[in-house]
Amino acid sequence: MSVKTIALLTGGGDCPGLNPTLRSVTLHALEHGIHVIGIKEGWQGLVSDLQVDNLTYDSVLSLDRQGGTQLKSSRTNPYKIDGGAEKVLKRIKELNINALVAIGGEDTLGVAAKLYQEHKMPVIGIPKTIDGDLSLTDYCLGFESAVEIITHAIDTLRSTAYSHDRTFVVEVMGRHAGHLALKGGISAGADFILLPEHQFCMEKLLTRITAQKRQQNYSIIVVAEGATPKGTELSLTSDKKDAFGHVRLGGIGNYLAQEIEEKAHLDCRSVILGHLQRGGAPCAFDRRMGHYYGQAAVQAILAGHFGNMVSLTEGRICLQPLKNAVELRLVDVPHAYDTENYRAQPCLLKERV
Ligand code: F6P
Repeated sequence: MSVKTIALLTGGGDCPGLNPTLRSVTLHALEHGIHVIGIKEGWQGLVSDLQVDNLTYDSVLSLDRQGGTQLKSSRTNPYKIDGGAEKVLKRIKELNINALVAIGGEDTLGVAAKLYQEHKMPVIGIPKTIDGDLSLTDYCLGFESAVEIITHAIDTLRSTAYSHDRTFVVEVMGRHAGHLALKGGISAGADFILLPEHQFCMEKLLTRITAQKRQQNYSIIVVAEGATPKGTELSLTSDKKDAFGHVRLGGIGNYLAQEIEEKAHLDCRSVILGHLQRGGAPCAFDRRMGHYYGQAAVQAILAGHFGNMVSLTEGRICLQPLKNAVELRLVDVPHAYDTENYRAQPCLLKERV
């Protein structure tokens, strides 16, 4: 089949790296004489007939340095809307779209995988999420920009932490995966890191913090929003579920700071980084990955390899089946995390064979 028109959409939580990808797909497609349209607000744009954007050389050229997504995003699940999947297919036909590039995380790509499996919809996925938790790829767009923000935020906190001899708890995003907390914590030199994948023992943590305080006048603790002390449930800011069944996490940072003050008698404050982690310009790596992923997606379309996601696997850009990619990849606790001291395991040197 000759490809005349491809469409792009961005779904789920936004992040830096989306705009460089929109630019890359568009420029590469235009070089092959393919017309590119942008669907607004993720799957919402296809279920509710929102007007589409024509993406041109001029309209995408400076997107590589911009955060967020020009196309806007939403957490719309067509499978939760009466006749939603059929509406998507109908709209794709009406717009003469020969291929769709869906840029998203487990939810957006989960819908893409289902539409491909059930209706053979011609779709290619591109992985993005600051949570960094998709399987079958070593990189999800937005992750390194978020790690960069966490690192700078903690660098900034240090002067005030030092001046007041204070302990700071920094709550970061990541939902049920601790990649952001672990990599952000390592990059910023945090003293303790708490992950969703391992319930921590409050007593042990307080003992470690107190001991560390004797050697250093202040401490930085990075806690993932999905982390929990043993025997407790997730901290939620709202139990209202979105269209994909996710509750809103948050609050563990404040709770922990209170416990540290009350039980370890240390002056402690908490900082919730929240959506700052999704804001701002993409870091250099996200610009580059957006560039590669975008080009790879167009090549996959030209080769007719639908139902796949572009991926970084062992340093190479390749394709992986969408249906397996949307399973969550969590931190490999036995290899990556020291559950005695609440920090990263030392890096293991891989022997050459
Ligand atoms: O999945 C990305 C993410 O930023 C999570 O880390 C976080 O829990 C969630 O989205 C926040 O979602 P919202 O933007 O809907 O508040």
